[in-house]
Amino acid sequence: MENTIKDFEAKVRNRKLTVAVVGLGYVGLPLAIEFAKKGFSCMGIDLDKDRIARLKKQESYITDVPSADLKKVLKNTKFRAEQDFRFLPEADVIFICVPTPLKKKHEPDISYIKSAVKSISLNMKRGALVILESTTYPGTTDEVIIPLLESGTLKHGKDFFLCFSPERIDPGNEQFPLHKIVKVIGGVSPEATSRGVAIYSTILHKIVPVSSARVAEMVKLLENTFRLINIGMINELAMMAHKMKIDIWEVIDAAKTKPFGFMAFYPGPGVGGHCIPKDPLYLYWKARKFGFKSKFIKLASQVITYMPEYVVERVSEILLAQGKKLKNSHILVVGATYKKDVKDLRKSPALDIIELLSVKAKEVSYYDPLIPFLKFNSIDLVSADIKNKISTYDCVVIATDHSVIDYGAILKKARCIFDTRNIYKNIVDQKIYKI
Ligand SMILES: NC(=O)c1ccc[n+]([C@@H]2O[C@H](COP(=O)([O-])OP(=O)(O)OC[C@H]3O[C@@H](n4cnc5c(N)ncnc54)[C@H](O)[C@@H]3O)[C@@H](O)[C@H]2O)c1
Repeated sequence: MENTIKDFEAKVRNRKLTVAVVGLGYVGLPLAIEFAKKGFSCMGIDLDKDRIARLKKQESYITDVPSADLKKVLKNTKFRAEQDFRFLPEADVIFICVPTPLKKKHEPDISYIKSAVKSISLNMKRGALVILESTTYPGTTDEVIIPLLESGTLKHGKDFFLCFSPERIDPGNEQFPLHKIVKVIGGVSPEATSRGVAIYSTILHKIVPVSSARVAEMVKLLENTFRLINIGMINELAMMAHKMKIDIWEVIDAAKTKPFGFMAFYPGPGVGGHCIPKDPLYLYWKARKFGFKSKFIKLASQVITYMPEYVVERVSEILLAQGKKLKNSHILVVGATYKKDVKDLRKSPALDIIELLSVKAKEVSYYDPLIPFLKFNSIDLVSADIKNKISTYDCVVIATDHSVIDYGAILKKARCIFDTRNIYKNIVDQKIYKI
Protein backbone atom coordinates (compact mmCIF):
# COMPACT_ATOMS: atom_id res chain seq x y z
CA MET A 1 0.00 0.00 0.00
CA GLU A 2 1.20 3.53 -0.85
CA ASN A 3 2.56 5.64 1.99
CA THR A 4 3.07 9.05 0.45
CA ILE A 5 2.62 12.13 2.59
CA LYS A 6 -0.79 12.63 0.94
CA ASP A 7 -1.85 9.06 1.86
CA PHE A 8 -0.64 9.66 5.40
CA GLU A 9 -2.57 12.94 5.71
CA ALA A 10 -5.71 11.29 4.33
CA LYS A 11 -5.40 8.46 6.86
CA VAL A 12 -4.99 11.04 9.65
CA ARG A 13 -8.14 12.86 8.48
CA ASN A 14 -10.12 9.62 8.24
CA ARG A 15 -8.76 8.26 11.53
CA LYS A 16 -7.44 5.23 9.69
CA LEU A 17 -4.27 5.17 11.75
CA THR A 18 -3.33 3.41 14.96
CA VAL A 19 -1.40 5.49 17.46
CA ALA A 20 0.91 3.91 20.05
CA VAL A 21 2.27 5.72 23.08
CA VAL A 22 5.30 4.11 24.74
CA GLY A 23 5.53 5.16 28.41
CA LEU A 24 2.24 5.99 30.13
CA GLY A 25 3.33 8.46 32.80
CA TYR A 26 2.60 12.15 33.38
CA VAL A 27 3.36 12.84 29.71
CA GLY A 28 2.30 9.66 27.90
CA LEU A 29 -1.06 8.91 29.50
CA PRO A 30 -2.68 12.32 28.82
CA LEU A 31 -1.29 12.19 25.24
CA ALA A 32 -2.71 8.71 24.58
CA ILE A 33 -6.07 9.80 25.96
CA GLU A 34 -6.19 12.87 23.67
CA PHE A 35 -5.64 10.70 20.57
CA ALA A 36 -8.22 8.15 21.72
CA LYS A 37 -10.74 10.97 22.32
CA LYS A 38 -10.14 12.20 18.75
CA GLY A 39 -11.22 8.85 17.35
CA PHE A 40 -7.89 7.11 16.75
CA SER A 41 -7.39 3.52 17.67
CA CYS A 42 -4.81 3.97 20.41
CA MET A 43 -2.52 1.59 22.28
CA GLY A 44 -0.53 2.57 25.34
CA ILE A 45 2.52 0.48 26.21
CA ASP A 46 4.23 0.56 29.59
CA LEU A 47 6.60 -1.93 31.21
CA ASP A 48 5.23 -1.07 34.66
CA LYS A 49 2.94 -3.98 35.58
CA ASP A 50 1.22 -2.00 38.30
CA ARG A 51 0.37 0.96 36.00
CA ILE A 52 -1.07 -1.36 33.33
CA ALA A 53 -3.08 -3.29 35.95
CA ARG A 54 -4.52 -0.01 37.29
CA LEU A 55 -5.44 1.13 33.79
CA LYS A 56 -7.17 -2.17 33.15
CA LYS A 57 -9.13 -1.57 36.38
CA GLN A 58 -9.97 1.92 34.99
CA GLU A 59 -8.05 3.53 37.82
CA SER A 60 -5.88 6.57 37.16
CA TYR A 61 -2.51 7.17 38.84
CA ILE A 62 -2.00 10.66 37.36
CA THR A 63 -3.61 13.67 39.06
CA ASP A 64 -4.35 15.41 35.74
CA VAL A 65 -6.33 12.38 34.54
CA PRO A 66 -9.19 11.87 37.02
CA SER A 67 -10.39 8.25 37.25
CA ALA A 68 -13.90 9.33 36.17
CA ASP A 69 -12.49 10.76 32.89
CA LEU A 70 -10.37 7.69 32.36
CA LYS A 71 -13.42 5.43 32.82
CA LYS A 72 -15.31 7.43 30.19
CA VAL A 73 -12.40 7.21 27.74
CA LEU A 74 -11.95 3.48 28.25
CA LYS A 75 -15.66 2.91 27.78
CA ASN A 76 -16.20 5.12 24.73
CA THR A 77 -12.96 4.97 22.75
CA LYS A 78 -10.57 2.50 21.15
CA PHE A 79 -7.86 2.79 23.83
CA ARG A 80 -6.08 -0.22 25.22
CA ALA A 81 -3.14 -0.60 27.59
CA GLU A 82 -0.44 -3.22 27.01
CA GLN A 83 2.58 -4.31 29.00
CA ASP A 84 4.68 -5.37 26.00
CA PHE A 85 5.34 -4.52 22.37
CA ARG A 86 3.50 -7.53 20.87
CA PHE A 87 0.88 -5.39 19.15
CA LEU A 88 3.22 -2.57 18.09
CA PRO A 89 3.29 -3.76 14.43
CA GLU A 90 -0.30 -2.43 14.22
CA ALA A 91 0.88 1.12 14.99
CA ASP A 92 1.33 3.75 12.26
CA VAL A 93 2.51 6.48 14.64
CA ILE A 94 4.60 5.78 17.76
CA PHE A 95 5.25 8.35 20.50
CA ILE A 96 8.05 7.78 23.01
CA CYS A 97 7.39 9.29 26.46
CA VAL A 98 9.79 7.41 28.73
CA PRO A 99 11.79 8.91 31.62
CA THR A 100 15.11 10.70 31.11
CA PRO A 101 16.64 10.90 34.60
CA LEU A 102 20.18 11.70 35.68
CA LYS A 103 22.87 9.21 36.61
CA LYS A 104 24.61 9.52 39.98
CA LYS A 105 27.23 11.94 38.63
CA HIS A 106 24.58 14.23 37.12
CA GLU A 107 25.05 12.85 33.63
CA PRO A 108 22.11 12.09 31.29
CA ASP A 109 20.63 8.61 31.61
CA ILE A 110 19.02 7.91 28.25
CA SER A 111 18.88 4.15 28.83
CA TYR A 112 15.05 4.22 28.89
CA ILE A 113 14.98 5.88 25.47
CA LYS A 114 17.48 3.38 24.07
CA SER A 115 15.58 0.41 25.46
CA ALA A 116 12.24 1.70 24.11
CA VAL A 117 13.78 2.39 20.68
CA LYS A 118 15.30 -1.11 20.54
CA SER A 119 11.88 -2.65 21.24
CA ILE A 120 10.33 -0.36 18.63
CA SER A 121 12.92 -1.27 15.99
CA LEU A 122 12.14 -4.95 16.47
CA ASN A 123 8.39 -4.51 16.18
CA MET A 124 7.72 -1.42 14.06
CA LYS A 125 5.85 -1.70 10.76
CA ARG A 126 7.39 -0.24 7.59
CA GLY A 127 6.45 3.37 7.02
CA ALA A 128 5.77 4.17 10.68
CA LEU A 129 6.27 7.66 12.09
CA VAL A 130 8.20 7.73 15.39
CA ILE A 131 8.12 10.85 17.58
CA LEU A 132 10.29 11.27 20.67
CA GLU A 133 8.72 13.47 23.35
CA SER A 134 11.07 12.71 26.25
CA THR A 135 13.27 15.68 27.17
CA THR A 136 16.86 15.07 26.19
CA TYR A 137 20.09 16.74 25.05
CA PRO A 138 20.45 18.17 21.52
CA GLY A 139 21.67 15.47 19.19
CA THR A 140 19.91 12.47 20.78
CA THR A 141 17.49 11.99 17.88
CA ASP A 142 20.18 12.21 15.16
CA GLU A 143 23.08 10.59 16.98
CA VAL A 144 21.39 7.89 19.06
CA ILE A 145 17.93 7.06 17.73
CA ILE A 146 18.57 7.11 13.99
CA PRO A 147 21.52 4.66 14.29
CA LEU A 148 19.44 2.36 16.53
CA LEU A 149 16.48 2.35 14.14
CA GLU A 150 18.76 1.91 11.12
CA SER A 151 20.86 -0.85 12.72
CA GLY A 152 19.00 -3.46 10.62
CA THR A 153 17.82 -2.91 7.08
CA LEU A 154 15.48 0.03 7.71
CA LYS A 155 16.31 3.47 6.26
CA HIS A 156 14.93 6.82 7.39
CA GLY A 157 12.72 8.50 4.79
CA LYS A 158 11.89 5.18 3.14
CA ASP A 159 11.02 2.70 5.88
CA PHE A 160 10.25 5.07 8.76
CA PHE A 161 10.11 8.76 9.70
CA LEU A 162 11.44 10.32 12.89
CA CYS A 163 10.77 13.60 14.74
CA PHE A 164 11.49 15.18 18.09
CA SER A 165 8.72 17.17 19.72
CA PRO A 166 9.23 18.34 23.30
CA GLU A 167 6.38 17.88 25.72
CA ARG A 168 5.58 21.15 27.47
CA ILE A 169 2.76 20.13 29.80
CA ASP A 170 2.64 21.61 33.28
CA PRO A 171 1.05 19.02 35.59
CA GLY A 172 -1.63 20.51 37.82
CA ASN A 173 -2.05 23.62 35.63
CA GLU A 174 -5.76 23.66 34.82
CA GLN A 175 -5.43 26.82 32.75
CA PHE A 176 -3.19 25.06 30.22
CA PRO A 177 -4.26 21.46 29.62
CA LEU A 178 -2.40 19.53 26.93
CA HIS A 179 -4.60 20.59 23.99
CA LYS A 180 -4.06 24.30 24.72
CA ILE A 181 -0.27 24.14 24.60
CA VAL A 182 1.58 25.17 21.43
CA LYS A 183 3.69 22.29 20.11
CA VAL A 184 7.18 22.60 18.67
CA ILE A 185 8.35 19.88 16.30
CA GLY A 186 11.53 19.17 14.36
CA GLY A 187 11.88 16.16 12.08
CA VAL A 188 14.94 14.42 10.71
CA SER A 189 13.68 15.44 7.24
CA PRO A 190 11.08 17.98 6.06
CA GLU A 191 8.72 15.12 5.22
CA ALA A 192 9.05 13.70 8.73
CA THR A 193 8.18 17.15 10.13
CA SER A 194 5.12 17.43 7.85
CA ARG A 195 3.89 14.03 8.99
CA GLY A 196 4.39 15.05 12.61
CA VAL A 197 2.48 18.30 12.06
CA ALA A 198 -0.39 16.35 10.44
CA ILE A 199 -0.82 13.99 13.38
CA TYR A 200 -0.49 16.65 16.11
CA SER A 201 -2.97 18.92 14.29
CA THR A 202 -5.73 16.50 15.27
CA ILE A 203 -5.28 17.19 18.99
CA LEU A 204 -3.64 20.64 19.19
CA HIS A 205 -4.50 24.14 17.96
CA LYS A 206 -1.05 25.39 17.09
CA ILE A 207 2.10 23.64 15.94
CA VAL A 208 5.44 25.34 15.34
CA PRO A 209 7.69 23.37 12.98
CA VAL A 210 11.43 24.03 13.29
CA SER A 211 14.25 23.13 10.91
CA SER A 212 15.64 20.07 12.72
CA ALA A 213 15.24 17.67 15.61
CA ARG A 214 18.32 19.28 17.21
CA VAL A 215 16.62 22.70 17.29
CA ALA A 216 13.46 21.19 18.81
CA GLU A 217 15.56 19.42 21.47
CA MET A 218 17.31 22.70 22.31
CA VAL A 219 14.00 24.62 22.51
CA LYS A 220 12.90 22.52 25.48
CA LEU A 221 16.25 22.95 27.20
CA LEU A 222 16.21 26.71 26.63
CA GLU A 223 12.77 26.90 28.27
CA ASN A 224 13.75 24.88 31.31
CA THR A 225 17.20 26.46 31.66
CA PHE A 226 15.50 29.87 31.60
CA ARG A 227 13.31 28.71 34.48
CA LEU A 228 16.13 27.14 36.47
CA ILE A 229 18.28 30.26 36.23
CA ASN A 230 15.48 32.64 37.16
CA ILE A 231 14.40 30.46 40.08
CA GLY A 232 18.03 30.24 41.23
CA MET A 233 18.36 34.01 40.98
CA ILE A 234 15.17 34.77 42.93
CA ASN A 235 16.13 32.31 45.67
CA GLU A 236 19.50 34.01 46.01
CA LEU A 237 17.78 37.40 46.18
CA ALA A 238 15.35 36.02 48.80
CA MET A 239 18.24 34.96 51.03
CA MET A 240 19.88 38.34 50.46
CA ALA A 241 16.66 40.25 51.20
CA HIS A 242 16.19 38.30 54.44
CA LYS A 243 19.62 39.48 55.63
CA MET A 244 18.62 43.04 54.65
CA LYS A 245 15.26 42.69 56.44
CA ILE A 246 13.30 43.30 53.23
CA ASP A 247 10.22 41.22 52.34
CA ILE A 248 11.07 39.66 48.96
CA TRP A 249 7.42 38.75 48.31
CA GLU A 250 6.37 42.38 48.57
CA VAL A 251 9.26 43.35 46.28
CA ILE A 252 8.21 40.81 43.61
CA ASP A 253 4.56 41.89 43.76
CA ALA A 254 5.54 45.51 43.21
CA ALA A 255 8.12 44.68 40.49
CA LYS A 256 5.60 42.69 38.50
CA THR A 257 3.45 45.76 38.00
CA LYS A 258 5.98 46.72 35.31
CA PRO A 259 4.25 45.73 32.08
CA PHE A 260 7.42 44.87 30.14
CA GLY A 261 10.92 43.53 30.78
CA PHE A 262 10.05 41.71 34.01
CA MET A 263 8.62 38.27 34.65
CA ALA A 264 7.83 37.18 38.21
CA PHE A 265 9.59 34.13 39.63
CA TYR A 266 9.16 33.15 43.27
CA PRO A 267 11.47 31.72 45.91
CA GLY A 268 10.67 28.45 47.65
CA PRO A 269 12.14 25.47 49.47
CA GLY A 270 13.95 24.26 46.32
CA VAL A 271 12.87 22.79 43.01
CA GLY A 272 11.66 19.30 42.23
CA GLY A 273 9.88 17.22 39.62
CA HIS A 274 11.13 15.42 36.54
CA CYS A 275 12.07 18.59 34.60
CA ILE A 276 13.67 21.75 36.01
CA PRO A 277 16.28 20.16 38.33
CA LYS A 278 17.62 17.82 35.67
CA ASP A 279 16.89 19.09 32.13
CA PRO A 280 19.48 21.94 32.20
CA LEU A 281 22.07 19.40 33.38
CA TYR A 282 21.48 17.47 30.14
CA LEU A 283 22.45 20.64 28.29
CA TYR A 284 25.39 21.27 30.64
CA TRP A 285 26.69 17.76 29.92
CA LYS A 286 26.31 18.07 26.14
CA ALA A 287 27.95 21.52 26.07
CA ARG A 288 30.98 20.04 27.91
CA LYS A 289 31.46 17.71 24.91
CA PHE A 290 32.04 20.89 22.88
CA GLY A 291 34.51 22.22 25.46
CA PHE A 292 31.93 24.69 26.82
CA LYS A 293 31.19 25.05 30.56
CA SER A 294 27.91 26.81 31.38
CA LYS A 295 28.49 28.97 34.44
CA PHE A 296 24.82 29.99 34.71
CA ILE A 297 23.48 26.40 34.81
CA LYS A 298 26.05 25.35 37.40
CA LEU A 299 25.45 28.32 39.68
CA ALA A 300 21.64 28.18 39.51
CA SER A 301 21.72 24.42 40.25
CA GLN A 302 23.97 25.03 43.26
CA VAL A 303 21.70 27.74 44.69
CA ILE A 304 18.59 25.62 44.23
CA THR A 305 20.17 22.47 45.65
CA TYR A 306 21.12 24.44 48.77
CA MET A 307 17.54 25.65 49.48
CA PRO A 308 16.33 22.70 51.64
CA GLU A 309 19.40 23.17 53.84
CA TYR A 310 18.65 26.89 54.02
CA VAL A 311 15.08 26.13 55.14
CA VAL A 312 16.37 23.93 57.96
CA GLU A 313 18.94 26.58 58.98
CA ARG A 314 16.19 29.21 59.12
CA VAL A 315 13.96 26.93 61.21
CA SER A 316 16.86 26.42 63.59
CA GLU A 317 17.42 30.21 63.84
CA ILE A 318 13.71 30.87 64.42
CA LEU A 319 13.60 28.31 67.23
CA LEU A 320 16.80 29.64 68.76
CA ALA A 321 15.28 33.13 68.91
CA GLN A 322 12.55 31.53 71.05
CA GLY A 323 15.10 29.90 73.32
CA LYS A 324 14.68 26.43 71.77
CA LYS A 325 17.13 24.12 70.10
CA LEU A 326 16.27 22.30 66.87
CA LYS A 327 17.66 19.07 68.32
CA ASN A 328 15.02 19.25 71.08
CA SER A 329 12.15 20.23 68.78
CA HIS A 330 9.37 18.41 66.94
CA ILE A 331 8.83 19.84 63.43
CA LEU A 332 5.86 19.29 61.13
CA VAL A 333 6.47 19.60 57.39
CA VAL A 334 3.28 20.41 55.49
CA GLY A 335 3.30 19.12 51.90
CA ALA A 336 5.64 16.43 50.62
CA THR A 337 5.23 16.59 46.83
CA TYR A 338 7.39 18.86 44.68
CA LYS A 339 4.45 20.92 43.55
CA LYS A 340 1.00 22.11 44.58
CA ASP A 341 -1.91 19.73 43.86
CA VAL A 342 0.25 17.12 42.12
CA LYS A 343 0.98 13.65 43.54
CA ASP A 344 4.53 13.56 42.21
CA LEU A 345 7.34 13.14 44.79
CA ARG A 346 10.23 13.05 42.32
CA LYS A 347 13.14 15.20 43.53
CA SER A 348 10.78 17.02 45.91
CA PRO A 349 12.69 19.49 48.12
CA ALA A 350 10.23 18.66 50.93
CA LEU A 351 11.79 15.19 51.06
CA ASP A 352 15.25 16.70 51.50
CA ILE A 353 13.89 18.92 54.28
CA ILE A 354 12.27 15.93 56.01
CA GLU A 355 15.48 13.92 55.71
CA LEU A 356 17.64 16.75 57.08
CA LEU A 357 15.22 17.30 59.97
CA SER A 358 15.18 13.59 60.75
CA VAL A 359 18.86 13.99 61.63
CA LYS A 360 18.89 17.49 63.11
CA ALA A 361 15.56 17.72 64.99
CA LYS A 362 14.26 15.64 67.87
CA GLU A 363 11.38 14.48 65.70
CA VAL A 364 9.97 15.22 62.25
CA SER A 365 6.43 14.54 61.06
CA TYR A 366 4.78 15.40 57.77
CA TYR A 367 1.26 16.06 56.60
CA ASP A 368 0.21 15.69 52.96
CA PRO A 369 -3.37 14.71 52.08
CA LEU A 370 -2.13 13.49 48.67
CA ILE A 371 0.60 11.23 50.05
CA PRO A 372 -0.57 8.83 52.81
CA PHE A 373 2.90 7.47 53.57
CA LEU A 374 6.55 8.19 52.79
CA LYS A 375 9.26 5.57 52.47
CA PHE A 376 12.67 6.58 51.14
CA ASN A 377 16.28 6.25 52.35
CA SER A 378 15.96 5.99 56.15
CA ILE A 379 12.54 7.71 56.24
CA ASP A 380 9.44 5.63 56.97
CA LEU A 381 6.53 7.89 57.95
CA VAL A 382 2.76 8.05 57.74
CA SER A 383 1.06 11.38 57.01
CA ALA A 384 0.22 12.81 60.45
CA ASP A 385 -3.33 13.20 61.67
CA ILE A 386 -2.86 16.87 62.56
CA LYS A 387 -6.41 17.72 63.57
CA ASN A 388 -5.87 18.20 67.30
CA LYS A 389 -2.10 18.21 67.22
CA ILE A 390 -0.98 21.43 65.51
CA SER A 391 -0.18 23.13 68.82
CA THR A 392 2.14 20.25 69.80
CA TYR A 393 4.71 21.00 67.09
CA ASP A 394 7.49 23.47 67.84
CA CYS A 395 7.43 24.69 64.27
CA VAL A 396 5.30 24.03 61.17
CA VAL A 397 7.13 24.30 57.83
CA ILE A 398 4.88 24.93 54.83
CA ALA A 399 6.83 23.19 52.06
CA THR A 400 4.07 22.61 49.47
CA ASP A 401 0.90 24.67 49.16
CA HIS A 402 -1.79 22.14 48.19
CA SER A 403 -5.22 23.75 47.77
CA VAL A 404 -7.02 21.20 49.98
CA ILE A 405 -5.07 22.09 53.15
CA ASP A 406 -6.82 24.22 55.79
CA TYR A 407 -4.14 26.87 56.37
CA GLY A 408 -6.48 28.92 58.57
CA ALA A 409 -6.77 26.02 61.02
CA ILE A 410 -2.98 25.61 61.04
CA LEU A 411 -2.47 29.32 61.69
CA LYS A 412 -4.97 29.33 64.55
CA LYS A 413 -3.19 26.59 66.50
CA ALA A 414 0.47 26.62 65.40
CA ARG A 415 3.14 27.89 67.76
CA CYS A 416 5.27 29.09 64.88
CA ILE A 417 5.22 28.71 61.10
CA PHE A 418 7.98 28.89 58.50
CA ASP A 419 6.13 29.65 55.28
CA THR A 420 8.25 28.91 52.20
CA ARG A 421 5.37 29.51 49.75
CA ASN A 422 3.88 32.80 50.94
CA ILE A 423 0.60 31.05 51.67
CA TYR A 424 -0.04 33.59 54.43
CA LYS A 425 0.26 36.55 52.08
CA ASN A 426 -1.11 39.77 53.61
CA ILE A 427 -1.50 38.15 57.04
CA VAL A 428 0.47 39.92 59.73
CA ASP A 429 1.17 37.60 62.63
CA GLN A 430 4.29 37.42 64.79
CA LYS A 431 4.40 33.66 64.54
CA ILE A 432 4.68 33.59 60.72
CA TYR A 433 8.20 33.64 59.27
CA LYS A 434 8.82 33.72 55.54
CA ILE A 435 11.60 32.62 53.26
N1 LIG B 1 6.40 15.19 34.20
C1 LIG B 1 6.42 16.34 33.56
O1 LIG B 1 5.88 17.35 34.03
C2 LIG B 1 7.08 16.49 32.21
C3 LIG B 1 6.81 17.61 31.43
C4 LIG B 1 7.41 17.74 30.19
C5 LIG B 1 8.32 16.77 29.76
N2 LIG B 1 8.59 15.68 30.56
C6 LIG B 1 9.54 14.68 30.04
O2 LIG B 1 8.76 13.59 29.54
C7 LIG B 1 9.43 12.33 29.79
C8 LIG B 1 8.52 11.40 30.57
O3 LIG B 1 8.27 11.98 31.84
P1 LIG B 1 7.10 11.48 32.79
O4 LIG B 1 7.02 12.47 33.89
O5 LIG B 1 5.89 11.17 31.99
O6 LIG B 1 7.74 10.11 33.32
P2 LIG B 1 6.98 8.94 34.11
O7 LIG B 1 8.03 8.25 34.90
O8 LIG B 1 5.77 9.47 34.80
O9 LIG B 1 6.47 7.97 32.96
C9 LIG B 1 7.31 7.26 32.13
C10 LIG B 1 6.76 5.86 31.93
O10 LIG B 1 7.59 5.17 30.98
C11 LIG B 1 7.61 3.80 31.34
N3 LIG B 1 8.74 3.16 30.67
C12 LIG B 1 10.06 3.25 30.96
N4 LIG B 1 10.78 2.55 30.07
C13 LIG B 1 9.90 2.02 29.19
C14 LIG B 1 10.04 1.20 28.03
N5 LIG B 1 11.24 0.82 27.58
N6 LIG B 1 8.92 0.82 27.38
C15 LIG B 1 7.70 1.21 27.82
N7 LIG B 1 7.51 1.99 28.91
C16 LIG B 1 8.60 2.39 29.57
C17 LIG B 1 7.70 3.83 32.86
O11 LIG B 1 7.28 2.60 33.41
C18 LIG B 1 6.77 5.00 33.20
O12 LIG B 1 5.45 4.57 33.47
C19 LIG B 1 10.73 12.70 30.49
O13 LIG B 1 11.74 12.83 29.54
C20 LIG B 1 10.44 14.08 31.10
O14 LIG B 1 11.61 14.82 31.28
C21 LIG B 1 7.98 15.52 31.75
